[in-house]
Amino acid sequence: MKLCMIGTGYVGLVSGVCFSDLGNDVICVDKDQDKINNLQKGIIPIYEPGLQELTLKNFKNKKLKFSTDLKNSIKKSDIIFICVGTPTKKNDIGADLSQIYSVSKEISKSINRFKIIITKSTVPVTTGDEIEKILLKKVKKNKFSVISNPEFLREGEAIRDFIYPDRIVIGANDNKSAIILKNLYSPLISKGAKFISTNRRAAELIKYASNAFLATKITFINEIANLCEKTGIDVEDISIGIGLDKRIGSRFLRAGPAYGGSCFPKDTKAIVTTADKFKTNLSVIKSVIKSNSLRSKLLIKKVNEILKNKIKNKKICFLGVTFKANTDDMRDSSSLEMIPFLSKKGAKIKYYDPTGLKKEFNKLKNVSFSNSIQDSVKNADLVILHTEWNDFKSINFKKLNPSKNLKIYDMRNIYSPLKVKSQGFKYFGIGR
Ligand code: UDX
Repeated sequence: MKLCMIGTGYVGLVSGVCFSDLGNDVICVDKDQDKINNLQKGIIPIYEPGLQELTLKNFKNKKLKFSTDLKNSIKKSDIIFICVGTPTKKNDIGADLSQIYSVSKEISKSINRFKIIITKSTVPVTTGDEIEKILLKKVKKNKFSVISNPEFLREGEAIRDFIYPDRIVIGANDNKSAIILKNLYSPLISKGAKFISTNRRAAELIKYASNAFLATKITFINEIANLCEKTGIDVEDISIGIGLDKRIGSRFLRAGPAYGGSCFPKDTKAIVTTADKFKTNLSVIKSVIKSNSLRSKLLIKKVNEILKNKIKNKKICFLGVTFKANTDDMRDSSSLEMIPFLSKKGAKIKYYDPTGLKKEFNKLKNVSFSNSIQDSVKNADLVILHTEWNDFKSINFKKLNPSKNLKIYDMRNIYSPLKVKSQGFKYFGIGR
C-alpha cells in the first residue's frame, strides 16, 4: 500500500520505517528541511535502538522516501497518517491541537481520490470529528474516511513494540476502511497481535485511558514505596507480592522517581481536561498528576536528608538524566527538576548519560557533563542512580571511588542494599 506519514517525530518516523519494512511504499513528510536532508543522508534525529539500520535498509531499497512536499505526497498515497505533535498547551493542561488542524486543512486541499486519513498522534476524544468537519469544507464525504489508530510504542523498545504489539486498535466509523486497515496490519496480526476494531471516539479514548492507567499504577507503587521507607519494608517484595495476582499484573510496578517522558505527563493532563469539558470529574487521575508532581520534591528532600542538610559544595554525580533508559529523550525527566534545584543550593554536579551532553543543563552553575562513568563517580560524595541503563548495573564503586564516605542513592533499586553496604558505602534506595 502507499502510505504517507505526516511528521517525522518519534511516532511518524518509527511507524513509517516499520511500515516500509513490511513491504509498503512509505513517504515520510516533514516541513523541517534540515531534518529531511539529514534523514536522506541516513542521519536519524532520535536515539532509538535498531532504527538507523532499518531506515537505511528501506531507504536503499526505495520502499522509504523522505520529503518536504506535503501536497504531492498526499496525492500519491492511499493512507495518510497524521503524526504531528500534540503537546500540552501553554498556560493550560489541555492538548494543543493546532498542528493537527493545520495539517488537516492541507490534506483537504490535496485529496484527488479516496483517502484514509488516520490520527496516530494521541488526540483527545472528538478530534476525529473535528478533522472530518475541516475536510468536509473542501471535500465530498465519499472521498475520505477519518480513522483513529493510536500507537503504543515505548521509546527504546519501539521497533520491537511495533512488530510484536499487544494489540492494534482501529477506530473507524465505516466498515470498509476498517477492513483496509486490518489488511495493512495483517503481517503483525498473523504473528499473534490482537486486533481491536471499534468506533473512532473509543479508539481515541483507549489511548488516553491506557496511559492514564499505567501512570496510575506507577504512582500507586511510588506512594506504597513511601510507606515502605517508613516501615522498614522493601517495596520490591510488595511489587512481586501484588504483581503475581493476575488481576494486577507485575509490569509497571517499579517504584522510582516521578514518571516522565513524552506521554504520561501530557496525556494524564489532557484526559482530565477532556473529561472536564464533558462535565466528568476524573478524580483518580487528578490525584495521580498531583502525586507525581510532588514526587521530585520528595526525592530532593531525601537527597537533603542523605547529605545531612549540607548540599552546598557537595560533589553529586548523576548517572543517567533521561526519563528512562535506552532513549535520549529529556522530556519531563525528573532530572530537569532535581539538577537545577541542587545546583541552586550550591552542589557541584557531574552527570554522565550514555546519550551524551544535555543542552538543558548548559547554563547551570557548577553542572558539568562527564564523558565516562569513571570520571563522574571519582571524587563524588553522593552518586545518584537516576536512570536504569544496563551500563550502570555492575559498577565497581570500590574501585572507582574508594572513599568510605561515598553515599549511593539508587533511585531505580538496581543494586542489592546488602551488597553495597558490605563494601562499606552508605546505600539508599526507593522504598527500602
Ligand atoms: C509510554 C507508554 O508505555 C506507551 O505505550 C505510549 O505509547 C507512550 O508512553 P514511554 O513514554 O516510552 O511509553 O515510556 P514507559 O516505558 O512507558 O515509561 C514511562 C515513564 O514511567 C518513565 O519515566 C519510566 O521510568 C516510568 N516507569 C515505568 C516507572 O517509574 N516504573 C515502571 O514500572 C514503569
